[in-house]
Amino acid sequence: MLVSIPHPCYLGSVGPDRTAPLGVFDSGLGGLTVVRALRATLPHEDIVYLGDTARVPYGTRSKDTVVRYASACARHLVGRGVKAIVIACNTVSAVAPERLRAELDLPVLEVIGPGARAAVAASRTGRIGILATAGTVASGAYPRAVAAASTRAETVSQAAPLLVPLAEEGWITGQVPELVVRRYVEPLALADVDVVVLGCTHYPILRDVIEDVVRERIGPHARVVDSANTIAETVASFLQTRAIDRPASEGLGAVKLLATDVPRAFEEQASRFLGEATSGVEVVDL
Ligand code: DGL
Repeated sequence: MLVSIPHPCYLGSVGPDRTAPLGVFDSGLGGLTVVRALRATLPHEDIVYLGDTARVPYGTRSKDTVVRYASACARHLVGRGVKAIVIACNTVSAVAPERLRAELDLPVLEVIGPGARAAVAASRTGRIGILATAGTVASGAYPRAVAAASTRAETVSQAAPLLVPLAEEGWITGQVPELVVRRYVEPLALADVDVVVLGCTHYPILRDVIEDVVRERIGPHARVVDSANTIAETVASFLQTRAIDRPASEGLGAVKLLATDVPRAFEEQASRFLGEATSGVEVVDL
């Protein structure tokens, strides 16, 4: 049953509190690559990030399970008084945004539309390769979003499930990730794409090895793109258009980290994804 929950930011006022934080969530730590881009584009925003580290990966689960997990994450963030939610997970963005928009009384932004637009902008031939989780590939969300962004672009998708545990483990250099990446890039090279989309927020952590393999197998002209910068620009223009951006006079924003489990070497992994030191994590039960 769909139950719309009241939103503290929007209750009893003419509009949301523009100083309220942005809520960002992902299945694990991968979404911190999106937070990193948001911090660069929107340095004055406070961000509450929730990583569902107890239930990662989402990419191998059924659509119903991903929707249920995503709803729990989003509701937790609403309870924290966020003014908008950014789904920093491609797998959730592929199957859950409409459901979350129907359930929640606040704006919900997702990463696949911006990722598709970035790919179309980067491609010269219109042949776009998508590396993503099995769930994202099965949803057909990227082909639909690319078709909405360009009538002449074509997509070839490749599920790359082993990249998520490699990124979460921090195993991002050397023979093992290279071999795995090679295996996943090969079908895209054979399909003659000129752009490879990192269609999962974990993959930018393996960007160096992916770029090396793409250049070698496809050619120096080939481009690797991810949605992080495009989603950050989308969020910035959304907040500005609605006049709910946090004023610069409030000072620089901070990141509050929430997780459903604290795995070994959490701090080290989180700061690798975020690109800055983290200051502790609060464990939450959803
Ligand atoms: N971060 C998720 C995404 O962007 C993938 C990781 C997972 O399988 O949970 O699709």
